[in-house]
Amino acid sequence: MEIAGRRVLVTGASSGIGRACALALVRAGAEVVATARRAHLLDTLTREHPGIRTIQGDLLDASFRQTLCRTVGLVDVLVNAAGVGAVGPLLDLPLSSYQRMLELNVVAPLDLVQRLAPAMLAAGGGRIINVGSVGSYIAAPPTTAYASTKFALRGLTDGMRRELREGGVAVVLVAPRRVRTEWFEVASGSGPLDDAAWPTGTSAPHEVAVAVMACVSAERPPWVRFVPAGAGLRAHLIGLGLGGQLPEPARRLAQSVLRVARL
Ligand SMILES: NC(=O)c1ccc[n+]([C@@H]2O[C@H](COP(=O)([O-])OP(=O)(O)OC[C@H]3O[C@@H](n4cnc5c(N)ncnc54)[C@H](OP(=O)(O)O)[C@@H]3O)[C@@H](O)[C@H]2O)c1
Repeated sequence: MEIAGRRVLVTGASSGIGRACALALVRAGAEVVATARRAHLLDTLTREHPGIRTIQGDLLDASFRQTLCRTVGLVDVLVNAAGVGAVGPLLDLPLSSYQRMLELNVVAPLDLVQRLAPAMLAAGGGRIINVGSVGSYIAAPPTTAYASTKFALRGLTDGMRRELREGGVAVVLVAPRRVRTEWFEVASGSGPLDDAAWPTGTSAPHEVAVAVMACVSAERPPWVRFVPAGAGLRAHLIGLGLGGQLPEPARRLAQSVLRVARL
């Protein structure tokens, strides 16, 4: 699908991955509508590129989701990037936090798809990009609860793509590993993560945006796109190693192999 001229809705566009996607898409000629809660950050987005239209609101609020979809009308592409995490033991997680995380990471994307996909189907096609995670495959501490929401998003994405493909709507899960955004600070409520200490490197938000753009423009996009490509294997090994399921020497060996192989 040609990106120029397409109408795109990007959620989570005030920061990180969603923001990088909004900017990359508008620079490629798309007509971008960007949404998030923080109005001052949406203002900086339009200052960075005046072509972006912003709609401020809280995706946890079902009535905002309805207003948002009514306001944007027909879109060719939906990028579901808004999401939050939680860092810490499962046993300590307040159920109310888990319910909010499920609502934002799983229910809201489904709600937007239910509201926007019928018009895409009627128009003959479209693209839906759900931002998952390597956590869509591995639920390891300290982000077990968060990962379970990303498992659910992967399940929905798999089902959606089967239900919508005959109508020309391709649905893709973009699954990054660690990306240098506010995610960890927000999820942990603590200071920023020391990315230099991250065992196998990190990605910039723009790298995820490049993968999203590739999935939008490809004639037949894959249904899962890891960022970086090949990170599925790495994620699996890291999940095993850092999840405490490997003894220490084996964990260190796995990390060295990953570093040398640049997986
Ligand atoms: N960073 C990583 O390592 C990583 C790795 C894999 C996957 N991901 C996923 O990538 C996606 C984007 O995260 P990020 O890394 O870019 O983190 P981020 O910088 O914290 O971005 C999260 C975005 O979600 C929006 N958001 C949060 N709560 C919202 C709500 N109630 N209503 C509307 N918007 C809301 C935030 O905007 P406001 O606060 O302004 O509303 C922000 O724009 C998430 O789904 C995350 O799970 C991140």
